[in-house]
Amino acid sequence: MSDKDHLIIFDTTLRDGEQSPGASMTRDEKVRIAKALERLRVDVIEAGFPIASPGDFEAVAAVAEQIKDSRVCGLARALDKDIDRAGEALAKANAGRIHTFIATSPIHMEKKLRMQPEQVIEQAVAAVRRARRYTDDVEFSAEDAGRSEIDFLCRITEAVIEAGATTVNIPDTVGYNIPDQFGAVIAALRERVPNADRAVLSVHCHNDLGLAVANSLAAVRNGARQVECTINGLGERAGNAALEEIAMAVRTRQDLFDCDTRLDTTQIVTCSRLVSGITGFTVQPNKAVVGANAFAHESGIHQDGVLKNRETYEIMRAQDVGWSENRMVLGKHSGRSAFRSRLHDLGIEFASEEELNAAFARFKDLADKKHEIFDEDLQALVTDANLDA
Ligand code: KIV
Ligand code: ZN
Repeated sequence: MSDKDHLIIFDTTLRDGEQSPGASMTRDEKVRIAKALERLRVDVIEAGFPIASPGDFEAVAAVAEQIKDSRVCGLARALDKDIDRAGEALAKANAGRIHTFIATSPIHMEKKLRMQPEQVIEQAVAAVRRARRYTDDVEFSAEDAGRSEIDFLCRITEAVIEAGATTVNIPDTVGYNIPDQFGAVIAALRERVPNADRAVLSVHCHNDLGLAVANSLAAVRNGARQVECTINGLGERAGNAALEEIAMAVRTRQDLFDCDTRLDTTQIVTCSRLVSGITGFTVQPNKAVVGANAFAHESGIHQDGVLKNRETYEIMRAQDVGWSENRMVLGKHSGRSAFRSRLHDLGIEFASEEELNAAFARFKDLADKKHEIFDEDLQALVTDANLDA
């Protein structure tokens, strides 16, 4: 067992992920995904927003009832009726969490909430206190923290921890931040909030500028100990930080992190496929970790290197994230050694080097006409060569 800190993985596929237009899920689909997340050993599963609809209330209640090994969380605005509804939905949870939020940026407070900053702090404190009536695990989020003033963020963080928040989440709600600056926000909170060590500091990054994972990692390097993320990076607009990328970045670069997750990463591909199948959101082939090409090699130089020593071109093992193995894709960039190796796996050997060369030349001709050469193409190619002889 590692003596490093525990990096808590808070999965919000079933809540923020579901906010992707077109990604809504039924209660039973949410339960199926929650069970897969439990097998992945996610620490916290945010199952939904109970006040949003009767269906979402039921889904959160069903997940809370059936999940035993992960904590189940329900979202609530900083309003009594939301918190009571979340409390009710989580009543049967083995371990439950209420996650309450209010916006803290000048633009949100002035234009959306039409509230003074002091009123926002009062409402946040009242919400945390009310949530504590239901559970001793209460998370507070400062919505749009990424565009909030640091002095105000420090004040509200201190106040909600004093009121009983056990996790304080700093969301980059609109994906506006860049890594070194976002990391500095976390460092400042740890340094300036006197009671900061009484709560877990968390981050929740959106991907509007494609920086959600990078920002989350910068935050972790500056002391955040919970990351909110989703399978396949699903979520509002451009999505949330992708769980599989965060988990594998931290695991692969343990030299840079003083913490690690407790995930069973071999479940990652299964979760990715399940979420993609249920939501209909396909995973792009070149998506890190879970894309079909994430462990595929096509160029001859790379294939030759990997065949000699996998680590020449692979920083992770395909099996560690749940693929059965890496994949050598035969195409026009492939070389003789991958060609020979694949044919050997298919039980095809050549009597002489000349025969191999002739078959390889035919393969290259075919590869110019086709994106990928499959095993059937190779069989046909060798059979045709024998017929011609
Ligand atoms: O992006 C956001 O700010 C949120 C909060 C509710 C945490 O999703
Ligand atoms: Zn969000």
